Amino acid sequence: MQRHNVGILGCGVISRTYLADIKAFYPRLNVLACADVTAELAKKLAEEFEVERAYTTEELLKDEDIEIVINLTPPRFHVELNKRIIEAGKHVFSEKPFAHSLEQAREVLNLAKEKGVKVGCAPDTFLSSGLQSVRHYLDTGIIGKPFMVTANMMIFGAETWHPNPGFFYEDNCGPVFDMAPYYVSAIVSLLGPVERVVGFGARPNKKRHLYVGDKAGTDIDVNVDTTYTVLLYLRSGVLVNLNLSFDIYKTDLPMFEIFGDCGTISYPDPNFGGGTPKVYRKEQFIDPIFNKTKEAEDRHDKFYELPELFPRVKDYSRGIGVMDLATAIDKKKENRTGENFILHVTEVLCGIRESVSKGQIYEVQTTCERPESLTPGQNIDCL
Ligand SMILES: NC(=O)c1ccc[n+]([C@@H]2O[C@H](COP(=O)([O-])OP(=O)(O)OC[C@H]3O[C@@H](n4cnc5c(N)ncnc54)[C@H](O)[C@@H]3O)[C@@H](O)[C@H]2O)c1
Repeated sequence: MQRHNVGILGCGVISRTYLADIKAFYPRLNVLACADVTAELAKKLAEEFEVERAYTTEELLKDEDIEIVINLTPPRFHVELNKRIIEAGKHVFSEKPFAHSLEQAREVLNLAKEKGVKVGCAPDTFLSSGLQSVRHYLDTGIIGKPFMVTANMMIFGAETWHPNPGFFYEDNCGPVFDMAPYYVSAIVSLLGPVERVVGFGARPNKKRHLYVGDKAGTDIDVNVDTTYTVLLYLRSGVLVNLNLSFDIYKTDLPMFEIFGDCGTISYPDPNFGGGTPKVYRKEQFIDPIFNKTKEAEDRHDKFYELPELFPRVKDYSRGIGVMDLATAIDKKKENRTGENFILHVTEVLCGIRESVSKGQIYEVQTTCERPESLTPGQNIDCL
């Protein structure tokens, strides 16, 4: 199959993970150029990863050799830059969030249709080994009919590790637009679309102290709620409780569990690509009533690990969604993080924000199919 020339826009923290992973795992993607609003940052990244061309944004968009641009700029620039990339006639894979309103998302996607280019968006972690394995086990009925999910993304903020953490605390970011995308896209990919959303937010700290980077030792203002409790009602009738926080030092809550009428599946963290799912089945619970053996007793309290069914590249790999986009270009088909999926996930995120601000249930208008699953054993490069 064809090799695709890729340009990276935004040469910050996550660009290094994309570059390392694309070089290691996706040889059909050739990162030919990188660009940043700060020219030295593009040069530095190009030197570090032997990228041929270090550019300004304008130069990147003018380069006719570049087919796909990966937009890794901070959230507030995504809509504007994605439009410019599309206007330049290039396919775009954008980091999350795609947009801060459904209207904005539609504008970008309509422009892409007009220009005949494809759009993909992170998170693509639901395409990775761990979550595709969960999808396979769910679809084979290992826990019967799912009826409830608990998802708990409860961490402390990025100021302990990110050199420029300001954007996490802007009014259009916070955990809803930074972390919820991983959970919402995993839930939609595993269990289908969302019908209703209700949420509540809190802002325990009005300032955050920076621990690393040039501004270490100073405080920044917090312009967004940093802790949320959210309920999602899925079209399938499944109930989801989703807790999101940048304020929690430590918790033992499970990160992601799906409950069905025949058991429970537990997954380590939808923010990551790998991770071994575990299962607990109804039989384990019932057996000891009839069968008073040591084996039955031993099984009673235990989750069992389920093998991952897909080639496992790395726990925290980036680029699989770009690979999927490139394959969709080759095969002239829809990519898995395509239009309807993007619109639906964007609306759910915006719906959480609206519900929190208005104190009302938000009724979701968009819907989508679950993105096509991978075949167990399938190599990621052959998506
Ligand atoms: N850091 C992570 O671990 C991580 C993980 C997953 C996703 N993301 C997402 O990736 C995106 C970038 O995050 P990051 O942590 O790499 O941020 P960062 O601040 O480290 O890097 C962003 C880069 O974009 C450049 N930039 C800013 N405005 C620009 C513009 N208008 N044109 C061109 N370049 C511009 C900046 O100079 C900077 O080099 C965000 O949307 C974030 O949500 C980050």
